[in-house]
Amino acid sequence: MTDLPKFCFIIHPLSLEDVARYEPGAKGKGAPIVRKILEWMPAWAAVHVTGVRAPDGRETEGWFVAAPLLPEQMLAFPREEVYERIVRAIELGAELGAQVAGLGAFTGVVGDGGVTVAQRAPIPVTTGNSLTIAAGVQSLLRGAREMGIDPAAATAAVIGATGSIGGACVRLLAPHVGRLVLVARNATRLRKMHDDLAGSLACESTSTTDVAEGVRCAQLVLTATSSTQDVIEPEDLQTGAAVCELSLPHDVSRRVASLRPDVLVTEGGNMLVPGEPRFERVRERGTEFDLNLPPRTALACMSETMVLALEQRFECYTLGRGIDLERVLEMERMAERCGFALGGMRAFDTAITPERIAAAREAAHERRARVPA
Ligand SMILES: NC(=O)c1ccc[n+]([C@@H]2O[C@H](COP(=O)([O-])OP(=O)(O)OC[C@H]3O[C@@H](n4cnc5c(N)ncnc54)[C@H](OP(=O)(O)O)[C@@H]3O)[C@@H](O)[C@H]2O)c1
Repeated sequence: MTDLPKFCFIIHPLSLEDVARYEPGAKGKGAPIVRKILEWMPAWAAVHVTGVRAPDGRETEGWFVAAPLLPEQMLAFPREEVYERIVRAIELGAELGAQVAGLGAFTGVVGDGGVTVAQRAPIPVTTGNSLTIAAGVQSLLRGAREMGIDPAAATAAVIGATGSIGGACVRLLAPHVGRLVLVARNATRLRKMHDDLAGSLACESTSTTDVAEGVRCAQLVLTATSSTQDVIEPEDLQTGAAVCELSLPHDVSRRVASLRPDVLVTEGGNMLVPGEPRFERVRERGTEFDLNLPPRTALACMSETMVLALEQRFECYTLGRGIDLERVLEMERMAERCGFALGGMRAFDTAITPERIAAAREAAHERRARVPA
């Protein structure tokens, strides 16, 4: 074992396609069988990550450890059983030498957003949400620039506004935009949050439990829900809107890709990793793990875990639903110091080229002429 600082990050499949990408043997097997197999599978170290190196030479290595349940299984299974599986995956990471653990996708969503898991885990735990929030807001504002939208004159809808990520994005976005619409399903929680916050926000704000209504009145949309179904439909998006999606699995219907060429959708939580990162499958040495992302790119939550290892900040950095904005800004600075940068624009599994952006602007121009606002 090297004496580099070490991390582990807990991953899980987001869909049956994800399972087949990792384990081609699962292709063609019925969904109920695959679900049953996942249910029986213990945690395992799936990926060895090396070559993550800051510009000043600091380096870290780590493991992606699989807690192999689908999002809907994480939500449906008894909470204690899911916690147990996540903690077991972290224990495996710690046995490999990890000094800090990150919670991927639904492992950081289920229950109380990592708080109970952190109490039971042998090493400090983070959800990675601080860097995800910082990257999401940067991404949405980049999308606005590309689509020629002036944020200060625009309405921004945050879908999943009462969540860990959404709630912090509301507060971070407020000084940049003209008006905010907060959207979530639970009316009581949403109203309370909005009542507590509205007076201190730097812009006007409203709230609604109707996603379509929220999306329809916004030129900018940031979505970070824990839904396992599509949430944003092509019919509701404004002409020329910029959408930043942080949710995993995705919230934006794939129909948007074909039906709304005038809209710019970007996955907001992708970061370029410094150094020469390698994501090697543990079982098949020499084979790269397909993260379904471009080379040298990782999710922001993974990146936060790597930053904590590089900075030797072995602490529970981000946990639960009450996010400290000071920590978001500190994490953003630490990530920059370690050489992490916002990933290239991407959506629906493909890179967004300058030509695609020009085409979106042109399509928006044409649609405005055809469809009155
Ligand atoms: N890209 C990355 O690097 C990265 C990193 C971490 C997390 N994530 C993803 O980000 C998402 C949010 O995570 P989180 O920790 O903020 O979760 P969270 O704290 O559980 O918040 C989820 C929010 O979504 C709302 N919601 C759920 N279903 C909805 C629906 N159908 N329509 C509208 N709102 C809905 C919830 O409120 P109601 O229940 O009241 O609707 C809540 O406001 C997850 O998909 C997670 O996997 C991505």
